[in-house]
Amino acid sequence: MTHAVAIAHPNVAFAKYWGKRARPGNFPAVPSLSVTLAGLSTRTSVTFDGSLATDEITLGGAPASAADRERVTLVLDRVRRASRETRRARVESHNDFPTASGLASSASGYAALALAASAAAKLEASDEVLSDLARRGSASAARSIFGGWVELLAGAEAGDEEDVLGARQVAPEDQLDALVLVCVVTDAKKDASSRDGMAQSARISPYWDAWLASAPKNFAEMKAALAARDLRRVGELGEASALAMHALAMSAGVIYMRGMTIELMSRVRALRADGAAAYATSDAGPHVKVLVSSADALAVRAVLEAIPGVLRVIEARPGPAARIVEGSAAGGTSQKSTEVS
Ligand code: PMV
Repeated sequence: MTHAVAIAHPNVAFAKYWGKRARPGNFPAVPSLSVTLAGLSTRTSVTFDGSLATDEITLGGAPASAADRERVTLVLDRVRRASRETRRARVESHNDFPTASGLASSASGYAALALAASAAAKLEASDEVLSDLARRGSASAARSIFGGWVELLAGAEAGDEEDVLGARQVAPEDQLDALVLVCVVTDAKKDASSRDGMAQSARISPYWDAWLASAPKNFAEMKAALAARDLRRVGELGEASALAMHALAMSAGVIYMRGMTIELMSRVRALRADGAAAYATSDAGPHVKVLVSSADALAVRAVLEAIPGVLRVIEARPGPAARIVEGSAAGGTSQKSTEVS
């Protein structure tokens, strides 16, 4: 038996990834920019075991659904093909945050899986290749391989399914003196998966081409604002990206927002009018995440927590890269380096 355990953290995108290229391999249609979150983690253990007849996958203590099984197996099969490992695997994954918290557990989940499976199979892989592997499970997971501020570029419109596309760090954890407040508004699971919502957006929305044209500009401006440590501009562009993504999904009949989502977004705008550096974003669910300066975090948190319908507020600072905590490290050939400072 060979065994490894990895820990990875979720991330929140401010320049949103929404939509895939029309080619196999799970390539994003637009670039995205996110921050990895400390304090919340997925811990995934992978054991290759010759006595197993099939991969055994448990998520949060329960057997994986058919859809999750298929995606986890896809990642395991890629690791087996790239290494000398032929045995089936036992995969056990746990989140220390609620799956319905509005934090993408798929991001930390597939990042931890890619890392643990590669290490258990003794696969020599660079961070770029590990990130590419995580992307095959869930594109946002490519970003959770790295800490701090991370970009994932769009895939080319056409090409080979095996083309490598990994994320990379563009700025360290302390690039902005800011943190993220996750406002949880329901414990119910979301109704449409991001996968289905994206497919429907590309197929039905009259705004799809406008999104493909505008999202890269938002991303480029945000990256420049981040390099300039301009929290205000990063936050404003982040709100614009989230609203464009939701407008796109809505125009395809996919509604993730609820009344509370809109309520919180307008409360954040009111706080801003009062001088707070606070900016809202929201993903494929109704929860709202607020990027806020460290100086304003306490006061903004108190206001958000007191709003009826907010179940709880989770505070997360920018966090570190995914890592191996048991077993041998996969790769280690690159530096998870920083481009801007
Ligand atoms: O990687 P997925 O399929 O979980 O999609 C993530 C999509 C958003 O969270 C809405 C945006 C993003 O860039 O993370």
